[in-house]
Amino acid sequence: MIIKNIINKNILRQSGYLAPQETGAVKLDANENPFPLQEPLKKKLLKEMGGVIFNRYPEAGAPMLREKFARYFGVKKDMVLLGNGSDELIQLLCLTLKGKISGVMVPVPTFSMYKIISINTGNKIMEIPLDKDFDLDFDAMRRKIKPTFPALIFLSYPNSPTGNLFNRGKIEALIKKTPGVVVIDEAYADFSGQSLLPLLKKYKNLIFLKTLSKAGLASMRLGFLIGNKEIVAQLDKVRLPYNINCLSQIAADFFLENRQEFRAQSAKIIKNREILYRKMKKINSITPYPSRANFIFFSCAFDSDRIYEKLAAAGILVKNLNSGLTRNCMRVTVGTRKENEAFLNNLEKAISELGA
Ligand SMILES: Cc1ncc(COP(=O)(O)O)c(C=O)c1O
Repeated sequence: MIIKNIINKNILRQSGYLAPQETGAVKLDANENPFPLQEPLKKKLLKEMGGVIFNRYPEAGAPMLREKFARYFGVKKDMVLLGNGSDELIQLLCLTLKGKISGVMVPVPTFSMYKIISINTGNKIMEIPLDKDFDLDFDAMRRKIKPTFPALIFLSYPNSPTGNLFNRGKIEALIKKTPGVVVIDEAYADFSGQSLLPLLKKYKNLIFLKTLSKAGLASMRLGFLIGNKEIVAQLDKVRLPYNINCLSQIAADFFLENRQEFRAQSAKIIKNREILYRKMKKINSITPYPSRANFIFFSCAFDSDRIYEKLAAAGILVKNLNSGLTRNCMRVTVGTRKENEAFLNNLEKAISELGA
């Protein structure tokens, strides 16, 4: 058997998604919530998980949760789907929305999984660079919609890695212009205080993605898709029956019961973000950009690989984005105050050692 004869060439060509799992590191590379669950709450959750019947399948499609989260998002039950993280829902969209028109359009730079999943599901991907303010280049996108007719346009709102919110007028113009669906990924909406969810009342070709990963339950892999019930019904046929395991279903309920706690943590992260941004602005040779998410995007006036290596050697893990449009750029997740201080101190030290 010759592997290259049986594997799709677009998959063979890829190096695969890299998710470093460093232990003991100050982990500021994956946009997680830095605060662990408080002990009494953790005990409560584990007690509930103790009641799981391990030899039985979980409830298929999690209908009760669908209803509860529909209420939480202020929509009808048949407008919601749960996923094994929003990554799974991106995959579900890419697998299902392939009719007479197909293909995926994304502004770049953006969340890398849109491209990876598009390619892995046999979709053509069109990447349109953002403008100099990291906003959508509406004219360039409009020009490409006409000849290519993409079935999906993914917009991260706020955008990762740049941290900004795209102009709402441009988003609405895209929704009106495209023959396909616009997916607004609100993974970081807890930190922006902005949601475009009310637009669901206005447009039928609109889908939203949400996740509990950034709020503090990344380990439980819980994502949500919200949109037009006719599209949701088709997606539901492609969804694997038991995609949300029992422990995750319990954790989702737990989130709703303790939403104040998670909200308070997000508020703390927003405060820490502003302090971190102000301090980063004072450091020579880097330019941080304002952020509406739980991370800060910054460019370096020199080779960011060298800074990345020095930070990693000191146990500080950030996301190095040094290629293409994000040459010499990095993204740092907002951590606890102590973690942010460790990052700032080591960043300044690395810059001075490099004489930059
Ligand atoms: C824009 C965006 N969407 C989705 C995700 C993935 O979320 P989940 O953990 O729910 O799969 C991420 C993760 O970093 C993200 O940045």
